[in-house]
Amino acid sequence: MAQVSSGTSATKFQVSRVPRRVPAAERERRLANPGFGRIFTEHMVRMRWDAGRGWHDAQLTAYAPLSLDPGTSVLHYAQAVFEGLKAFRQADGGVAAFRPDAHAARFRRSARRLALPELPEETFLDAIDLLLEADHEWVPSAPEHSLYLRPMMFASEVTLAVHPADDVTFLLIASPSGPYFPSGVKPVTVWLSEDFSRAAPGGTGAAKTGGNYAGGLLAQAQAAEHGCDQVVWLDSNEHRWVEEMGGMNLCFVFGRGGDARVMTPALTGTLLGGITRDSLLTLGRDLGYETEEGRISVDEWRAGCGDGSLTEVFACGTAAVITPVAAVRSERSSWTVADGGPGEVSMRLRKALVDIQRGAAPDTHGWLHPAHVSSAR
Ligand code: PLP
Ligand code: COI
Repeated sequence: MAQVSSGTSATKFQVSRVPRRVPAAERERRLANPGFGRIFTEHMVRMRWDAGRGWHDAQLTAYAPLSLDPGTSVLHYAQAVFEGLKAFRQADGGVAAFRPDAHAARFRRSARRLALPELPEETFLDAIDLLLEADHEWVPSAPEHSLYLRPMMFASEVTLAVHPADDVTFLLIASPSGPYFPSGVKPVTVWLSEDFSRAAPGGTGAAKTGGNYAGGLLAQAQAAEHGCDQVVWLDSNEHRWVEEMGGMNLCFVFGRGGDARVMTPALTGTLLGGITRDSLLTLGRDLGYETEEGRISVDEWRAGCGDGSLTEVFACGTAAVITPVAAVRSERSSWTVADGGPGEVSMRLRKALVDIQRGAAPDTHGWLHPAHVSSAR
């Protein structure tokens, strides 16, 4: 039977849980080898917005396919934004989401750029709380596994006219997942895209919107043809300055040991400001490293690897966590980063981050948002 939830936001949710749950043995079977983003939990959150009523019809309901009119605006003009965050099984058996407030804030910024309504941060957090409460048993406990949460919002108005939608749908789904790269923390090889661009000044590069990913798929296919795992995007003007990867930010480590300096490309407006990137800048300082938001050209990257001053490079993001970059390829050249293995600074940062996420180290920055579930599974 539907109940009305009591969250902290002004939006009240109708709660209709599925009457028959997936049996525990079947759930464990699915959780044993989930892959990334392939399986989903039993519930989802949905909500509507229109100019007259604002956010309304908020509900936690059974996970189910959508039925969309072929004239639905998002299918034509891609007015949509999304987020990606994770909930982790804690050392004490509980469940906590990592920095959902930061993801809620970025969701608002993305929505603003795409002329979509801004979802209040408390409503975003209430949606996460409700879904975690209903589906907490789907949060995996295996190392490197977590519950990947995917909030999204799209133009659900049925029209072929090009204008900011008057009817918008919010959805939150959850996917128990293992590592994004099937090889886990094994270093990846990256492809420098020198002919395509991901984002240009004034464009949508800093927003988490599907079009940025769709526009990158051809370069991703080229990367795969050249035996690479991911694309590295360069600035669209000179194709010289390193920006980020298709779904993660990049960090460069200069020097070694206590003298190491961690540099990540500055947020110029064409990169996505990663929550992981931000967390690692903080953890890097905590660990005593010099950290910097700066810039690096392709030539400097190659030269630094050649003379040994650039000792480690890694990708970072919610899905990727920290994944070392072993080698770089482009149409014109290729080189390896140090000996191609995971670097010491990358692995120290990774452990510091993962330990906080899983409740194995003190959460000194207040990044964990505990879910309202009993600690027993
Ligand atoms: N850059 C892009 C293009 C991404 O898709 C992501 C993933 O969300 C990131 C960077 C890293 O962001 P975050 O650490 O918030 O996941
Ligand atoms: C994430 O890390 O959450 C992303 O959205 C990246 C995507 C490649 C899965």
